[in-house]
Amino acid sequence: MASLKPSCRALISASADGLIILVRGDLERVLFDEPAIHRRLDDIAAQISNDYREQELTVIAVLHGSLMFVADLLRRIPLPLKLECLSVASYHGKAQTSGDVTFKLAPASPSDLADRDVLIVDDILDSGHTLAAVREALERARPHSIRVCVLLSKKKQRAREVDANYVGFEIEDEFVVGYGLDFRERYRNLPYIGVLRRELLDQPSK
Ligand code: IMP
Ligand code: MG
Repeated sequence: MASLKPSCRALISASADGLIILVRGDLERVLFDEPAIHRRLDDIAAQISNDYREQELTVIAVLHGSLMFVADLLRRIPLPLKLECLSVASYHGKAQTSGDVTFKLAPASPSDLADRDVLIVDDILDSGHTLAAVREALERARPHSIRVCVLLSKKKQRAREVDANYVGFEIEDEFVVGYGLDFRERYRNLPYIGVLRRELLDQPSK
């Protein structure tokens, strides 16, 4: 750690299995710092508030990745709304989605969503498998409308096309972490978003 430049100061946090050291040196570069993220949230929140001004929203947050995003976004939306959470897994410890999407925490009970205006909030649109599966599951509950809001969208050919109605930032096809986004459950607590160094993606999991 002594060899780190001051700009690469270590963020240290305690965990059950010892001391995890999250270094900014694990990142190739920072893509969006905290003020840039917050400025963009102001824009999206204004857009959503305007689009839903006559309706009561049901926000469905896809955990864990959207945790920071949804918390900061909803505090900028001065409308009556309900919040539900669901959790899915598709990565299974890899840097590529497996395409096999499992619901770890079920969506809200179908009767709660009937005739509601649903806004799905997720961290990132990559292959499209996750959001396509979430959308299909929620459609079965016959809501009045469904829209999708993502913080990030990768510019790439998707395995499944998903229409995102609100997009924070479009990014290149790189693996990013921070502000809720993880690699093997780490880096979620970084207040900014950065590109993870490529060689870390290939290391065996610890
Ligand atoms: P998809 O099913 O491939 O669209 O991936 C969606 C989920 O994969 C997201 O909700 C994220 O949790 C995760 N994911 C996709 N790309 C990244 C990334 O670059 N960094 C961290 N997580 C990612
Ligand atoms: Mg993830």
